[in-house]
Amino acid sequence: MHNPFKPQQAKIVDMKRETADTTTYTFEFLDEEVKENFCFTPGQFNMLTIFGIGEAPISISSDPAKSKYFQHTIRHVGNVTNAMVKLKVGDKLGIRGAYGTGWNINLLKNKNVLIVAGGIGLAPLRPVILQLAGQRGEFDRVEILYGARTPGEMLFTDEYQTWRSKGLDVLPTVDNVPDTEEWKHSVGVVTGLFDEMQSMPENTVVLTCGPEVMMQFVVKDLLERHFQPHQIYVSLERRMNCGVKKCGKCQIGPKFVCKDGPVFAYAELLTLPESVLGGVGK
Ligand SMILES: Cc1cc2nc3c(=O)[nH]c(=O)nc-3n(C[C@H](O)[C@H](O)[C@H](O)COP(=O)(O)OP(=O)(O)OC[C@H]3O[C@@H](n4cnc5c(N)ncnc54)[C@H](O)[C@@H]3O)c2cc1C
Ligand code: FES
Repeated sequence: MHNPFKPQQAKIVDMKRETADTTTYTFEFLDEEVKENFCFTPGQFNMLTIFGIGEAPISISSDPAKSKYFQHTIRHVGNVTNAMVKLKVGDKLGIRGAYGTGWNINLLKNKNVLIVAGGIGLAPLRPVILQLAGQRGEFDRVEILYGARTPGEMLFTDEYQTWRSKGLDVLPTVDNVPDTEEWKHSVGVVTGLFDEMQSMPENTVVLTCGPEVMMQFVVKDLLERHFQPHQIYVSLERRMNCGVKKCGKCQIGPKFVCKDGPVFAYAELLTLPESVLGGVGK
C-alpha cells in the first residue's frame, strides 16, 4: 500500500549560495520512475527529511516545466535547514510531495499580474515568475515588487535582467543599505513601491508571499487602493508535521494549510472564524 509519509531518496546535483544564510539546491530523485513522474504546480511544497534529524516543509522554487531537476531555496534557520548547510553535491536526503495548492496560472491568463514578495517569500513565487516569463504572450502587464532587508539579502539577483528581457517589470527595494553595499534602487518597505507601480485594480490578480506582517500590510494597502479580496492570493506559512491533512498541526479553523493551502484567495481567509493576516477587510 502507498505510504504517504515515506520519503523518496533524492540526490543533490547542484548548490548555489544565494545570500549569507540562504542556498538553492537542485535535486533529482534516485528512483527513475519517481523522477519521471514527479511534477508540481508553482507554489506547492515538498517535505524534506534529513535522516536522523527531522523534516521541514519547503516550497519548490524552480521552473515546473523542468520538474526532473527541481530546486528548493532554503534559509538556514533551525534544525533541518541548518543541517543542510553541511550537505554537499552528491549527498542524499528524503523528499515527499509535491503538496498543497499552488498559484493557479489559468486564473492569470489575459490578466495583469502583480507579484509582491518579501525576503525568502520570493522562492515560492519564482516558479510562477518563470512560467509567466515562458508563456509571456498569455498575460498582460506583469509587475514584480520585491523587498529585502539589505541588498545582500536579495534572492535570484542574477535573474532580474532575464525576467526584464522577457517583459516582466521588476521593482526592488531594501529596508536599509549598509555602508559597505551599493544600491541604486528604492529604499523602504515593499508597500512603499505601491506609489511607483503601474498596476491598478482593473483586471489584475495579486500574488503575495513573505513574512506574515508584510502580507498583512500588503493586503491592507491594496484594499485601500480598491483591490478586492478575491483578486489577492496569499501563501501562508504554518508549523507542519504530516503535510497531508492528518495531524491537524497546521489547522486554521476548518482549513488545513498543508492541503487547502498554502496558497489561499484572501476572500477565502475572510470567511474563516479566526482572523488571518490581521483580518483586514473583515
Ligand atoms: C508551506 C511552507 C513552505 C515553506 N517554504 C520555505 C522555503 O521555500 N524556504 C525556506 O527557507 N523555508 C520555507 N518554509 C519555512 C520552513 O519550513 C521553516 O523555517 C522550518 O521551520 C524550517 O525547519 P527547521 O527544522 O530548519 O527549523 P526549526 O528547528 O523548526 O526552527 C525554525 C525557526 O522556527 C522557530 N520555531 C521553532 N519551533 C517553533 C514553533 N513551535 N512556533 C514558532 N516558531 C518556532 C525556531 O526558533 C526557528 O527560528 C516554508 C514553510 C511552509 C509551511
Ligand atoms: S501538517 Fe498535518 S494536517 Fe497539516
